[in-house]
Formats: sequence, structure tokens, C-alpha cells
Amino acid sequence: MFNSRIPKAAIAAALTAAASAAWAANPGATLGRPATPAEIKAWNIDVRPDFRGLPEGQGTVAQGTKLWEAKCASCHGDFADSNAVYPPLVGAFQATKQEMKTGFVPGLGNPANGYPPSLERLPTLSTLFDYIHRAMPWTSPDTLTWNETYSLVDYLLNLANIVPANFVLTRQNVQQVQDTMPARNQMTWNQGMWPGGKVVLADGKVLGNGGIPDVHATECMKNCAPKPVVASSIPAYAMNTWGNLQDQMRPWGPMRGQLTLTKAELEKEAKAKKAAATDPNAKVVELLKAHGCIACHSMGDNKIVGPGYAEVAKKYAGQQTEVAMLTQRIIKGGSGTWGSIPMPPQSISEGDAKMIATWLVSGAKP
Ligand code: HEC
Ligand code: HEC
Repeated sequence: MFNSRIPKAAIAAALTAAASAAWAANPGATLGRPATPAEIKAWNIDVRPDFRGLPEGQGTVAQGTKLWEAKCASCHGDFADSNAVYPPLVGAFQATKQEMKTGFVPGLGNPANGYPPSLERLPTLSTLFDYIHRAMPWTSPDTLTWNETYSLVDYLLNLANIVPANFVLTRQNVQQVQDTMPARNQMTWNQGMWPGGKVVLADGKVLGNGGIPDVHATECMKNCAPKPVVASSIPAYAMNTWGNLQDQMRPWGPMRGQLTLTKAELEKEAKAKKAAATDPNAKVVELLKAHGCIACHSMGDNKIVGPGYAEVAKKYAGQQTEVAMLTQRIIKGGSGTWGSIPMPPQSISEGDAKMIATWLVSGAKP
């Protein structure tokens, strides 16, 4: 997952610096280092439509109910019926025998029927495993075990009437359940994102349509439909989980996120900026934020990529003579003092770097 809070430039610079260090040591070496098995395991979590990537595991509806109440109901409603966070996951949808037999939900896609709940329009069960395990709960993604994920998927399937209440979902029977998913035959490949005609899937289906957009809107000039009303949103307590969306720029399109800071948080930010005008410590903290230093350095003792500033401050406590050296280290970067990971050079003025270095030898007070 791309973490938008670490500036891209910092990552690029870090990679470049690491690469050039490796190059200097061994000009024949390829860039970077092989990923460790643990790193690959942490990264490789996708579950594919044929369930490749889904580890062994199992879960019951009863276990799922408990987990749901503890971790999911606050946003999605007790019975996955809430409209507070986008459309409901299950809502009033109850799969019929006919739909489970044909893999076809009549009326799906007809705007007159409204936007269907997730379980009604879901062609691939694997997506439910993948999405929940990867992305939910919203405020702490990638924290559920696989058995918990099995239980939650079982719970949702039961709510949607796809499996009975005593059904134990396991790695061995997921394909059987997939073969009863109500909308399994309603996946469209007619999508402009993929080149048309060039990619033919194993079952002969052709992927994409060569770039024909799937939205065919024309501006309405008279007798227009009433203005849409926003009917769902993320609850206030979780709004700012991923930082202020308004500050996050997407690389394309006219979309900009909405302001997700609460009034109190906005006031706190304004206060910090104001304090920075008079309080030298607050000013340094603002500089660290502005230069993206805190992507790699915490304010405390714990290491992120580089040492925490409290740790650095302890090492150089009171040593005014080290200010010049630290100023240059900040500008030029380097490695070897805190470990083998190099700090990339920073584009920062000498004045600002010196102010930070002075703050560090004086105790790094926030
Ligand atoms: C703090 C609020 C919150 C909590 C708690 C939460 N979710 Fe979500 N959930 C969301 C939001 C917001 C989205 C839509 C995300 C998006 O579209 O980027 C979502 C989307 C989903 C979807 C995809 C729906 C679709 O049709 O695209 C599933 C499935 C889901 N959540 C399951 C869960 C499960 C299971 C849990 C508990 C482990 C959970 N959620 C807990 C906020 C929450
Ligand atoms: C991409 C990650 C990264 C960024 C961004 C970064 N640093 Fe570092 N920094 C490191 C690493 C790694 C070290 C440890 C280097 C070493 O062991 O010598 C370090 C070390 C330091 C040190 C200790 C130097 C010493 O000789 O003890 C200071 C001071 C420092 N950084 C300040 C900053 C400041 C100020 C910024 C922002 C202008 C910044 N860093 C941005 C990764 C980073």
C-alpha cells in the first residue's frame, strides 16, 4: 500500500542513496538487496479469484458474530445493514435459491433498483477475504488473523442467506460456496481500463474494450433529476484516520479529498503554526514536518528509518561543538553512526539545518 504520508521524494532519495552506497561497495552488484522471506510474506497477501493466496483456516458464524459486534458493527451496523458508511454490505438482500443456482441476480445494474448491497453484487468470494483481511477494520487494517477473516466472511454469507447458520467455512469448501454466489455470472469484462481484444482469459473471455469509457454522461439542461443527496459518510471519529484528505493530492483527475480535520484539530494546527512564530522549539517542529524529516524520525526514542530525535539529543546533549557537524550531516546525509541505513541528502537551507542541530544538542524539546 502506498503510504501517502511519507513524501515520495524522501523515498526516492533514500532508495538512490542506498543504491549508490551498494554500488560503491560492489560496482557489479544489482540495485537494492533481495527481499527477506518475512518481507515477502508481509507483502504477498492477495487472495485471487481461484483462492490462490488464501491460507488454511476456518471460521463459524457464531465466531463471526462476536467479531462483527466488536470490530465492525460500529460502522456497518449490527446486521451489516447500515447506510452510514457507503451502501450496506448486506442490507435487505436475501439470496434466493434461483439466484444461487443461476449465478444471476435479476435487476442488478438497473438504476431504478438503487445501488445494491455488496453481497448482492459480489461475483467473487475471494474479494471478500482479500478486502476484509487487507483493509478492515478501517481504523486498523491488516490486523485480522485468517481465522478471524474466515469467521467474518461466514457471518456475512449467513446474513445474506447464502450459507446456513451452522455452516463452518474452511479452505476446503470455499470453492463450493463460490459456486453458489448469487452474482457470480454477472462480472463484466467490458471495461475501458484494459486494451480491447488483446488479453484473452483462460475461459475465452476477452478483457477490456479498448478504452471506451463506462460513463456516458451528458449535461442535463432541462427537466433534470433532483440534486443528489449524500446519504452516507464515514463516521466523525474515523474521518481523519488517514490524515487530512484535503492535503492529499491525487496524481490525476479533478478530485480532491474533503476536509477531514475536526474543528478542534484545525484549531490545534493553527495554534501550532502560531506558536511556531514565537516559540523556537515549536518552529523547529514545524520545520521537521515541512521537510518530511518525521517520515523517518520519530520525536521520541523509537527508530523509524533513522533514530528518534530524543535518542539523537541524548547522544549529543549539551555538545555545542557538534552543531556544525550535525548541520552538515542534515544537509549531506550519511550513514554509519546509527547503523548501516543511510540518510539521504536533504534539500534544506543551512540556516534551517543549523536551527535543527542546535535544537538537538539542547534536548530536542517538542
Ligand atoms: C471505522 C469505520 C469502519 C469499521 C469499524 C469497519 N469498516 Fe468496513 N468499511 C468502512 C469504509 C469507510 C469502507 C469503504 C472504504 C472504501 O471504499 O475505500 C468500508 C468497506 C468495507 C467493505 C467493502 C464494501 C464494498 O462493497 O466495497 C467490506 C466487505 C467491509 N468494509 C467489511 C468490514 C469488516 C468485516 C469490518 C470489521 C472487521 C469492518 N468493515 C469495519 C468503514 C469501516
Ligand atoms: C529517508 C529517511 C530520512 C529522512 C527523510 C531524514 N533522515 Fe535523518 N537520518 C536517517 C537515517 C537512516 C539516519 C542514521 C544515519 C547514520 O546511521 O549515520 C539519520 C540520522 C540523522 C541524524 C543524526 C546524525 C548523526 O551524525 O548522529 C540527524 C541529526 C538527522 N538524521 C536529522 C534529519 C533531519 C533534520 C531531516 C529532515 C531535514 C532528516 N534527518 C531526514 C534517515 C532520514
